Amino acid sequence: MNELSGSIFKFLKNNEALSISGIELQAGIPKGSLQKAIGGYQKLSDGNLQKLITVLKRYGYQDEGGAKIMAIANNKGGVAKTASTVNISSALRNLGYKVLLVDMDPQGSASRHFGLYELEGQIADAMRDGHDYKIGELLYKIDDLLYLAPSNLNLESILPELQSDDVEGNQRLSKVFNHLRPHFDFILIDCPPSLNILTVNCLMASHSVLIPVQPEPHSIDGLSNIVRLIKKVSSVNPHLKVEGFFFTLVKNTKLHEGLMSTLEEEYPMIKIFEQKIRQNVAVAEACYEGMDVITYDKNSNGAQDYVALTNELING
Ligand SMILES: Nc1ncnc2c1ncn2[C@@H]1O[C@H](COP(=O)(O)OP(=O)(O)OP(=O)(O)O)[C@@H](O)[C@H]1O
Ligand SMILES: [Mg+2]
Repeated sequence: MNELSGSIFKFLKNNEALSISGIELQAGIPKGSLQKAIGGYQKLSDGNLQKLITVLKRYGYQDEGGAKIMAIANNKGGVAKTASTVNISSALRNLGYKVLLVDMDPQGSASRHFGLYELEGQIADAMRDGHDYKIGELLYKIDDLLYLAPSNLNLESILPELQSDDVEGNQRLSKVFNHLRPHFDFILIDCPPSLNILTVNCLMASHSVLIPVQPEPHSIDGLSNIVRLIKKVSSVNPHLKVEGFFFTLVKNTKLHEGLMSTLEEEYPMIKIFEQKIRQNVAVAEACYEGMDVITYDKNSNGAQDYVALTNELING
C-alpha cells in the first residue's frame, strides 16, 4: 500500500518519465522520502507533501483538494493572532508557497496592515446567502505568491444572517473555500478575538488550528474556552486538528518561564511548539510600516522566530 494520496500516486504512475530523485531534489524534500512513500514504507510530513505538490503542479498535476487551511485562533485579544498570521504567511510565501490570508476579524487588522481600509469586495460578500461575486473581486493581490481576502466592520453585519441559518450558518466560509482552495497551497485565517459564529465558521472551514498564547496569567486561564470550542467543532468537522500552542510576546522572565511550563502540565495532549516568538520591537515596527517582519528586518529576533516557527510547523 502506498503512503500517498490516490491522485498523486496516479499522476506519478501516468508520468513514469519523471525522475523520482529529481522531483525530491526540486521539492527540497529528503532524498529517498518520495520513493519510500510510494513503496508504503514512510509517510511524507505535511510540509514535504505541500512541497511535493507545488513541484508536481509544474508538471501538470492538478490537486483535487488544494490548499491546507489553518486558523490562527484565540478568543483572548492582543495575543499576536494578526501579527502571527501575517508573518507566518510571509514565511510560507518566502518558501515558494502560494498563500491566501483571510481576514475574518471585523476589526480588519490584517487588511489595514496591507493598507486596505475601503474595500470593494470582501469575504462577507461571498458568505452571504445567494451571493453573486467573482473570486477576483474578493481577493487582493499583495504579490505573485501572497493574496488577501480582506474584511472590515461590514463583516459584523452578516452575523444575524449566519445566526438565523440553522442548517448552514456555520459552514458559509467553508463553502467559499471550496472555490478558493484549488488556487493556493495554504490558506491562513486570522480569527477574531471571540468565540462567536465567525470563529465557528473559521474552525468549520479549517484542517487545523494554531493557538498563539501569551504567557501571562489571564491569557493562560482563558485558554480552556477556545480549547472547548475546538473540541465541540471537531465533532462535526472531523478534519480539524490542533497544530498546537505557540508562545508569543515572550519575555525573558521567571514569570514567563513558569507559566510556559504550567501550560505543558495543563494540556499534556496538545503540542507546544519548541519555537517561541520573543517580544521584539521589530514586529510592532514592521506592523506600523505595513510590512511583515521578515521583509522589514530579516535579522531581527522577530523575523528569525517566525521563520523557525514556520519551518517547525510544516516539517513537523
Ligand atoms: N513579538 C512581538 N513583539 C512585539 N510586539 C508584538 C509582537 N507580536 C505582536 N506585537 C504587537 O502586539 C499588538 C497585538 O498584536 P496583534 O494585533 O497581532 O494581536 P491580536 O491577537 O491579533 O489582537 P486582536 O485580538 O485585537 O485581534 C500589536 O500592536 C502588535 O504589533
Ligand atoms: Mg488581530
